[in-house]
Amino acid sequence: PLTRAEVLALPKVELHLHIEGTLEPELILRLAERNGIRLPYADLDDLRARYEFTDLQSFLNLYYANMAVLQTAEDFADLTRAYLARAQQAGVRHAEVFLDPQAHTVRGVALATCVSGVADVLEQSEAEFGMTSALIVTFLRDRPAAEALAVLTELIEMEAPIEGIGLDSAEVGHPPVDFEEVFALARAHGLECVAHAGEEGPPEYVWQALTLLQVARVDHGIRSLEDDALVSHLVERQIALTVCPFSNVRLRVVDTLADHPLPAMLARGLAVTVNSDDPAYFGGYLDDNFQALVTTFGLGATELATLSRNAVLAAFLTEEQREPLL
Ligand code: HPA
Ligand code: ZN
Repeated sequence: PLTRAEVLALPKVELHLHIEGTLEPELILRLAERNGIRLPYADLDDLRARYEFTDLQSFLNLYYANMAVLQTAEDFADLTRAYLARAQQAGVRHAEVFLDPQAHTVRGVALATCVSGVADVLEQSEAEFGMTSALIVTFLRDRPAAEALAVLTELIEMEAPIEGIGLDSAEVGHPPVDFEEVFALARAHGLECVAHAGEEGPPEYVWQALTLLQVARVDHGIRSLEDDALVSHLVERQIALTVCPFSNVRLRVVDTLADHPLPAMLARGLAVTVNSDDPAYFGGYLDDNFQALVTTFGLGATELATLSRNAVLAAFLTEEQREPLL
């Protein structure tokens, strides 16, 4: 098996990373103090004890509650800087970062505050951390599509520096079809499109993301394996799936890492990529996810190279940016 040093040295591309999911417990307490916010936790240990999840919703409850500490552009900038520093250590060379604007605007934070707080730091990622980056705004599928449409319209009007849009939050009962108009508007403005689908939701949601939202990549997508015609479709077109091993284990999508279908997905020829999703909540960053795959499945240099290459090809990069990563 590969050594830790070899895993770290592998040039990595991260395509499924929620910036709010990089909010570490220590930073939560520091920002709460800075902003004079009272949290319902006695101390760091009390907060840490709550990182035990039974499904996606049980995680989302804590994830959204903790965001209360993110108030100013400086808070979003500190969060983003902390992620970039950690990603650099992990060997990340390019990251496409999700931001959930509605998780902040619904609590009274201005759209420009959260977007510029993150975007201004991402703009410096190459100079300060030696990695390129892009911002993808994700819409909350468990909130009305009209709200997403209003936020997207505002982002377009303010000429926000975004590469694309995505769709996340509670999946079951919130199918992609509800967001057709939002994605059509994004495409009309030249924005890239991705969507979470087939994490807890059925293969039908993956089909909808592909055919109705016309996404370039599917976030998670692991339930695609239940539909052979869908697998063939994804393989033939080499549509990337941004798989998140630690997330799937912690949200009980799979029982243990050893039960994860990632090796089976690779064997079937799917364009699998490895991602950390919400690393502050799921037990590790991108290097940790790769390391665990190496340890659990004995993945070698060839498989890791395939996973990395899949991510480079699926990234929203110019050919000039892509070339040195291949
Ligand atoms: N799924 C859905 N919504 C999310 C996730 C996820 O894995 N992470 C943050 N929001
Ligand atoms: Zn996600």
